[in-house]
Amino acid sequence: MNIVVVGTQWGDEGKGRVIDFLSREVDAIVRFQGGSNAGHTVVVDGEIFVFHLVPSGILHPGKSCIIGNGVVVDPGELLAELESLRARNIDIKGLRLSSSAHIVMPYHKEIEKIEEKQRGKKKIGTTKKGVGPAYTDKIARRGIRVGDLLNEKVLAEKLDVNFVLLANYYRLNLCKKDILSRYLEYGDKLREYITDTSILVNQLIKKNKEILFEGAQGTLLDIDHGTYPFVTSSCTSAGGVCIGVGIGPTRIDKVLGVAKVYTTRVGEGPFPTEIEGREGEILKERGKEYGATTGRPRRCGWFDGVILRYADRINGLDELVLTKLDVLDKLDRIKICTAYKYKDKAIEDFPFQVVSLRECEPIYEEMEGWEEDTSQVSRYEDLPEKAQAYLRRIEEIGELPIGYLSLSPERAGLIKCKE
Ligand code: IMP
Repeated sequence: MNIVVVGTQWGDEGKGRVIDFLSREVDAIVRFQGGSNAGHTVVVDGEIFVFHLVPSGILHPGKSCIIGNGVVVDPGELLAELESLRARNIDIKGLRLSSSAHIVMPYHKEIEKIEEKQRGKKKIGTTKKGVGPAYTDKIARRGIRVGDLLNEKVLAEKLDVNFVLLANYYRLNLCKKDILSRYLEYGDKLREYITDTSILVNQLIKKNKEILFEGAQGTLLDIDHGTYPFVTSSCTSAGGVCIGVGIGPTRIDKVLGVAKVYTTRVGEGPFPTEIEGREGEILKERGKEYGATTGRPRRCGWFDGVILRYADRINGLDELVLTKLDVLDKLDRIKICTAYKYKDKAIEDFPFQVVSLRECEPIYEEMEGWEEDTSQVSRYEDLPEKAQAYLRRIEEIGELPIGYLSLSPERAGLIKCKE
């Protein structure tokens, strides 16, 4: 079975730990979009691993871990990540990198800093990893791709063009010669992993191997379907898999949507159920809601059912994976948003325009908290009745079954709900 795992909110839903868990049962794990803006955290016996570019299945030996063409790769960061995995005795032999994935260049990070500064109060709040400008170059047809790092003549020519179009235009103080030699060296170090990953994945599928497609960020950060312009620059939803890997839609069997049992957002942009005050602080501290890539505190809010239904519409979800239930353990009452009030009317559909979303007020239902520790529970049936009622309400609102539930960051903290 080939399964897509996507975030249904604004990222940070806990996809890393879900991928790690599901990786046991598959042959390959494939990233299809995003770059080192992602930070996927996996905890094994108290040891914390944060993946930015390497698929989160790498901790399971013998699996193919593939970085597809839809990812933008910062080769310096990728090599550092591989080095740190090697130093921790993790086997990285199964890694493969698409020769068509685009490269994040030093000028991308500089341009992003300049643009964010120039936007002033209207900034996006990006991760400053150069991801947006790298995707911009891809679409503008001047991007440098992984395969180009293996060919000095091609790389030099492309750098010439980009220096005229970008580095000189933005008056960046960068040395073309240094960049050329550094990026050729990166190419040399990555050579053994570089291949046509579309051929590889399609061959695996033909051999009936099982594949997990690992989404980064979340549906509401999707370049088309997210809260534009407060989004990332890639297609984060399930539709992005085909483009970002080079497979046809008929090869996908199942789509899993990961959601926290509350909501968080990092960076700027509207967030209807955001909580200001004590309860928001409790969620932030108990949930350790600080960005895995930038360390920025995440904004916290109540669970938003409008968003869940929207994520289902965009991704065609089959099942939900809910995470971080234990974070709500101390609350005596919990709110859940079922619809928005917009211009004095209740609406159930997520509004397409950010200006309209800013005018939406959440309509809440209030439920009693369970005020019991759930972090050690290992069976759904053993959860407090009030916690089960909360989860059932999410299932009803989303009209989706909960397949898995995460109750603590450790591997054992993820439980299957339905057989
Ligand atoms: P960029 O992807 O760095 O361009 O940032 C664009 C927006 O996406 C900002 O609001 C970031 O905070 C957000 N973002 C990017 N990657 C992640 C992620 O992995 N988790 C959560 N938010 C993210």
